[in-house]
Amino acid sequence: MTSNDPDPQHDTHRLMIVIASIRQGRGGLSVGRWFEEQAAQHEAFVLDVVDLAELDLPLMTEPNHPRLQRYTQQHTKAWSARVSAADAFVFVTPEYNFSFTAPLKNAIDYLSREWADKPLGFVTYGGVSGGTRAMVALLPTLQALRLHPVMPAVNVPFYTQYIEDDVFSPNEVTIKAANDMLAALAKASRTYRRARTGR
Ligand SMILES: Cc1cc2nc3c(=O)[nH]c(=O)nc-3n(C[C@H](O)[C@H](O)[C@H](O)COP(=O)(O)O)c2cc1C
Repeated sequence: MTSNDPDPQHDTHRLMIVIASIRQGRGGLSVGRWFEEQAAQHEAFVLDVVDLAELDLPLMTEPNHPRLQRYTQQHTKAWSARVSAADAFVFVTPEYNFSFTAPLKNAIDYLSREWADKPLGFVTYGGVSGGTRAMVALLPTLQALRLHPVMPAVNVPFYTQYIEDDVFSPNEVTIKAANDMLAALAKASRTYRRARTGR
């Protein structure tokens, strides 16, 4: 290897963090900010944080199947470019009525190939289930899109006990899970990027 060759072990990957709840007063922003700080300490990644409230995608009305990538609307083209640029994803999501949030599913459904052959981690939060039912409910969708979930996931039950003044400060178990998940994601991201692009 010459000094100009990229070292694949230390090559950075683009990690998109998606904050999946958009309602006023949401806890998702606090959890998302905390996870962003954890991920920023991980040398494998450069981050792109997508707050779906800010992205403000309307309900998907594109006339063509996303797999054709014949997008007609500017917001779809911009979303497509942003997701294409990512090597890996983390969805920060609660469960609503035992399932995923509508804005998250809408954002996913806009695109197809842009998600394919890339790894995904979960940060879920909620009551007794810690948001795990949203994660499990998404699995068939991930399969359809060839989006590959890594384990461990970060699942936080009764998460409001860790929030004070909008700052989420979880316990050691959750912090360890986040670090383990980021390590698994970095490894998977290298594998999938090599398979997609040969580098
Ligand atoms: C429409 C709706 C449905 C909910 N359903 C569940 C549920 O099925 N399981 C659960 O643990 N919490 C549920 N909750 C409580 C959420 O865990 C809690 O409100 C959490 O703060 C939601 O995330 P957000 O604040 O980022 O929107 C629900 C909340 C809302 C608003």
